[in-house]
Amino acid sequence: MSTGFRNRRSDTMGRVSVDMTKLRDDFPALRSGTAHFDSPGGTQTPQAVIDAVGHALAAPLANRGSANQAQRNAEEIVQQARAAVGDFANADPSGVVFGRSATELTFQFSRLLARRWSPGDEVVVTRLDHDANVRPWLIAAAEVGATVRWADFDPRTGELDPSVIANQLSDRTRLVALTAASNLIGTMPDTAAIADAVHNASAELYVDGVHYAAHARVDVTRLGADFFVCSPYKFFGPHLGVLIAQPDRLATLSPDKLLPATDAVPERFELGTLPYELLAGTTAAIDYLAGIGGAAGGRRDRLATSYRRLSAHETQLRTQLEDGLRTLGATLYSRAEQRTPTVLFDLDGQPAADVANHLARAGVNAPAGSFYAIETSRHLGLGDSGAVRAGIAPYSNADDVDRLLTALNRL
Ligand SMILES: Cc1ncc(COP(=O)(O)O)c(C=O)c1O
Repeated sequence: MSTGFRNRRSDTMGRVSVDMTKLRDDFPALRSGTAHFDSPGGTQTPQAVIDAVGHALAAPLANRGSANQAQRNAEEIVQQARAAVGDFANADPSGVVFGRSATELTFQFSRLLARRWSPGDEVVVTRLDHDANVRPWLIAAAEVGATVRWADFDPRTGELDPSVIANQLSDRTRLVALTAASNLIGTMPDTAAIADAVHNASAELYVDGVHYAAHARVDVTRLGADFFVCSPYKFFGPHLGVLIAQPDRLATLSPDKLLPATDAVPERFELGTLPYELLAGTTAAIDYLAGIGGAAGGRRDRLATSYRRLSAHETQLRTQLEDGLRTLGATLYSRAEQRTPTVLFDLDGQPAADVANHLARAGVNAPAGSFYAIETSRHLGLGDSGAVRAGIAPYSNADDVDRLLTALNRL
């Protein structure tokens, strides 16, 4: 695939950085002039992804098969999307399950996994997680009489120490549900260390990578995730969800399915017809991301380079943003050592919703709320209304940050 990212600049250390003009040009929505800090809720979409969705629908398309071109097109789209997600996450493509959203997949898998639990078994959830990786487990646990144990992060530091989860494990623990990155305050817990403790207790680890995947290259093996979910619309793709697990682990699960539907893995988890056009868009999003890493080498290696470059860019902007917010006297809740460039803040005496509305009038999208990380927000003392969230995305630039800070200064 041609990347189009040839005119890169080098910084003073000789490292190649992202050509921001080219990158921003690829996103038609940015032409509206809005500064988008709302990307943790979903990124804007590059033209390559929009085109891929359109092309999938413009070409002959039917149910998957091999008898005619329309069937073959659908088949190819599915295979390509599984291969792309496999490269994206260092996973076996046969363990890639597509669904409507991460929330829906987690509900589906919580019900399935709970069929193996008994009364008195235990499930661990955290207060750092989005509710999509909390409530489904609470509901599933209640249905079978399993006990829920909570792991708290430290609200003063934003850290979730692995020992806090380890202390909740017992010989009855069946599953731990953990976020790889908080969508509210950005904290990235030491997932690999937690995975070791979980596996030593013979339990399974279900990792929510929805926010993480937008900022860090996913390696499901390194993370130690037995199940991993993410959502392509958080990293330039269309609105759907993906679950990843080892095919032999999936083979131990028997979802409810229609009689004529295949029993093969991973298809048996994908109820009904797949959204082919969204799968084509998912492949294009992963190719687009890989393209930021250059044209040479395999897709996974290029993704490594892309994430390195994007992370350097995002960290620089995060520093600019946080320094500016501190100068304005804001309270910053994103404090963990390892975190994404997602900054939760409020200004003394100003309701968060008013601040967000003021920013919106200035053409800056940085909404206020708890963003479904309701346990996190409550644990921070922010109740259900939360605070203002400014998320840096790959297409954010210094001008966006200036505009946000200037608008806040005028409040
Ligand atoms: C960390 C995290 N987990 C889960 C979700 C839910 O994802 P989906 O919209 O695909 O259900 C979100 C959405 O914002 C999220 O940020």
